[in-house]
Amino acid sequence: MGTLGEYAAFDRSNRPKGAHVIVCGNEKGGSGKTTTSMHVIVFLLKAGFKVASIDLDTRQKSLTRYIQNRRNWAQTNQLKLELPNHFRFDLARVDSTIEAQSQDFSSFERAISEVQHSHDFVVIDTPGSDNYLGRLSHSMADTLITPMNDSFIDFDVLGRVDPKSLEIAGVSHYAVMVRESRRQRRQADNGLLDWIVVRNRMSTLNSRNQQNLLGCVKELSMRLGFRIADGISERVIFREYFPMGLTALDDVEDAAVGGRSSVSHLSARQEIRKLIRALRLPVDEKGIKRAQARVTWLENSNNPVEMPDIFAD
Ligand SMILES: Nc1ncnc2c1ncn2[C@@H]1O[C@H](COP(=O)(O)OP(=O)(O)OP(=O)(O)O)[C@@H](O)[C@H]1O
Ligand SMILES: [Mg+2]
Repeated sequence: MGTLGEYAAFDRSNRPKGAHVIVCGNEKGGSGKTTTSMHVIVFLLKAGFKVASIDLDTRQKSLTRYIQNRRNWAQTNQLKLELPNHFRFDLARVDSTIEAQSQDFSSFERAISEVQHSHDFVVIDTPGSDNYLGRLSHSMADTLITPMNDSFIDFDVLGRVDPKSLEIAGVSHYAVMVRESRRQRRQADNGLLDWIVVRNRMSTLNSRNQQNLLGCVKELSMRLGFRIADGISERVIFREYFPMGLTALDDVEDAAVGGRSSVSHLSARQEIRKLIRALRLPVDEKGIKRAQARVTWLENSNNPVEMPDIFAD
């Protein structure tokens, strides 16, 4: 499959047919993509969905490490922790750039085709820089989550602001890329990309800067067609569990982390649930029933049960 030059011709109709594709993307590094990916993955797994995850950050591989840590933690402590079916990417190591890109496209395509009929959700974490696989994944997304720190520096990859009037002076490179991905997606299968900008690391102090920034995000949302979600506050809990591969959604009482669920833990969990509701993912009652039926069916696969509602309509 294609080289960079053939990128535009990549067959997006190969995107997962059954699975809902969620991409966490923002070209600004450190905005919370991996943290958000992991919480969304664990939420969906706990709700009984079958989830595949893809780490396109070939340098840092933080999502891969998070999931490895979770697997190790579960094994060491004999815990049953939910895990996604995970794919990580190592960029092809060949001299020719064209050949390398061609191999990378093929690997991505293989991962996608492996999960397309067998999973409810595919969650893709992307790097904090522009690359062709990141762009391709954006054009396959049903839901794009863009976490953004509450700062004008982070806003700058979406839009430029007039310093005096604080009016939007222009659209920036990441937003232009998303606009193009949307167009390609519509052309490929008439699919619509639901784009949600999630405010991350929000401070509890209501500053004037925060109000000004929110005003700009709102104005830009109308221009670019994204929704805004009040995301997650700045909390230690969103980073301290990384070495164990845990999240705010996991119970920590039995998890040998030596703690009880603190008020902060429970508040963090509430925030994540609120965020998931704001994402409006297809996690309605019917979807959950179907996913649970599939789990039961798999567990009893030697002893088949009658479950007519296992597969999507
Ligand atoms: N709400 C939060 N509260 C506290 N710390 C946070 C929060 N969100 C993210 N962090 C921390 O901020 C840093 C960056 O987060 P993360 O790695 O999720 O961002 P990223 O967008 O994936 O970064 P990159 O672009 O480098 O891949 C990490 O140290 C993470 O633990
Ligand atoms: Mg990351």
